[in-house]
This record gives sequence, structure tokens and C-alpha cells, in this order.
Amino acid sequence: MVVRASAYADELVQTAKTIASPGRGILAMDESNATCGKRLASIGLENTEANRQAYRTLLISAPGLGQYISGAILFEETLYQSTVDGKKIVDILVEQGIVPGIKVDKGLVPLAGSNDESWCQGLDGLASREAAYYQAGARFAKWRTVVSIPNGPSELAVKEAAWGLARYAAISQENGLVPIVEPEILLDGEHGIERTFEVAQKVWAETFYYMAENNVMFEGILLKPSMVTPGAECEDRATPEQVADYTLKLLHRRIPPAVPGIMFLSGGQSEVEATKNLNAMNQGPNPWHVSFSYARALQNTCLKTWGGRPENVKAAQDALLLRAKANSLAQLGKYTS
Ligand code: 13P
Repeated sequence: MVVRASAYADELVQTAKTIASPGRGILAMDESNATCGKRLASIGLENTEANRQAYRTLLISAPGLGQYISGAILFEETLYQSTVDGKKIVDILVEQGIVPGIKVDKGLVPLAGSNDESWCQGLDGLASREAAYYQAGARFAKWRTVVSIPNGPSELAVKEAAWGLARYAAISQENGLVPIVEPEILLDGEHGIERTFEVAQKVWAETFYYMAENNVMFEGILLKPSMVTPGAECEDRATPEQVADYTLKLLHRRIPPAVPGIMFLSGGQSEVEATKNLNAMNQGPNPWHVSFSYARALQNTCLKTWGGRPENVKAAQDALLLRAKANSLAQLGKYTS
């Protein structure tokens, strides 16, 4: 059987390389309306389209952001949104040298037949949605599914997560979007770092198995793994060096060097912890670009500093730039606290 390559093959490789460029990573700002509502509530703001627009405009127009940020993941609303001054958000990103991306999954629902685990929806109609997103300026996509250690994970949940990611990755490449492959292994639980390592090996083995079966071109994808850490409720904490050792061991065992970039999620780590862990992973040469795709670990202080007040926009942007620069240095292995 001969499998036709995506008409976008060269462009996919180029896009992935641009995103995985030295000293840069991804700003994840693709919170669904419900999640964005929780963030806004934490600073006493209502979850209106105008408030979401004001906050996201603040983020993407931070001066010089493109020096540290190579891609921004948007929620569908933001992809089609303009700023209050009528400028398209996508155009501002491009002017900053930041590649626009889009969250394409439709969220998690209970997985029947499992131990209270979940699966990720969104394959129906994905090809036509992605063709429209490409037209609107998106050049990469994200699909986040989760695996829970305290709930198993069951064979079924891992297989479903891996298969869904593989189908999504193939469909995205067919439509010109570099797929970010994100099977998040949730931090929740009392388990130690060894157990996370074991589960992560299983999850990535299956994900690559099904991606190969679906003829996904590995040079045109990006990964968004969780770092290998102890469970959030585990009493034995790990140093950045231990997290780096386990995580790099996992990547070496499971991730082919053809993959251009590994863009970690922060998953509830503190801002500084996420930066230190990334820095520890970049103390030696790696076959892939090892970087960040953080939401909370880039935005937390920025959001609090803004507090919904126009007079705080500059200070909030400075807070975002401070984290972006720290993570840029960590990508280069040069962060010092
Ligand atoms: P956190 O960095 O807050 O975990 O979010 C990253 C993300 O995009 C989750 O899908």
C-alpha cells in the first residue's frame, strides 16, 4: 500500500521548526470559555466576551513577546476575534513573529467501561473545522487528553487516549496544521515518581505505535508531555535534577529524534518550579528542542497583576514578559534564579 504524503508536508516541517526555535516556546492561552471564566472569577471579573477579549489582547500585545514566544495556542473564539481597536488578534501575533495555533479537541467526557476515567471528543467534523482554521491563519493545533494514575490507568483508557491522538494527528497534518500531541498524565495522586515514569512509558509507547499505524509524519509534529514528577500528594518531593533525569530518560526511551520539539505543559507546578525543571533538562545537548507550552506557569502572576484594571495593563505585560524571558533562558539552560 502506498500512502500519499500530506500536500502540506514541507510546510508542516517548516512550521514545527519555527516553533521549536532556540530560546523560544509556546504561550498556551486556549482556555475554554468555562476555564477562562474560572480564571477571571479569581480576580473578581465576570466571564463576558469583552473581558476575555481584554485579557487576551493584553497577553498578545506585550511588547517584544515574540523574542521568547514562538507560538500561541488560541481557543476558537480568539482565533476569530479582534481587539477593541478592531485589529485581528491573529494579525497581531503574526506581527510579533508568533505562529497562531488552535485548540481543536472538544473536551473530556466519561469513558464508559472504565474506572471513572475519561476520553477526549472532537474527531467528528475535525477535517472541515481544521480546513477553516487554516484559512483563518492557524498553522498548528492542540488536542489534550488525560490519563489518571489514581484511577488506573486502565488499558482501555490508555488505548483510547493514544488512538484519539493518532487520528487527530493524521487529520491535522492532512489539513496543514502541525499537531501538538498532548496526553497529559495528571499530577493528582500520592504515587511516587517511579510510578509516573512507568505510566508515561506505557502512554508514549502506545501513542507512537498508533501514530505510526496512522502514517503520521514524525518530523511534522510537536509533543506536549507532562514532566515526570511524583504525584501532587506524594510526600517524597523531587528536585529539579531528579525531575530532569526521569523525564529525559523517558524521552530517550520513547521519542524518536525526528520529532522536532518537546513542549512541556506546566500542569499545576508553580511558575518558578516549572522554569527550574525546564532549565535542568537543558543542561546538556538533547536530540529534540526541549521547551515549554505553559498556560498557568506563564499567566498566573500576569493575571493577578492585571486584576481587570486598565491602569495595570503595562505591569501585567511586564509580569508576562518576566516569565517568558525566564523560560526562554531555561530553554537555553541558562536560567539562574
Ligand atoms: P498548563 O501549563 O496550565 O498545564 O496548561 C497547559 C495546557 O495547555 C494544558 O492543555
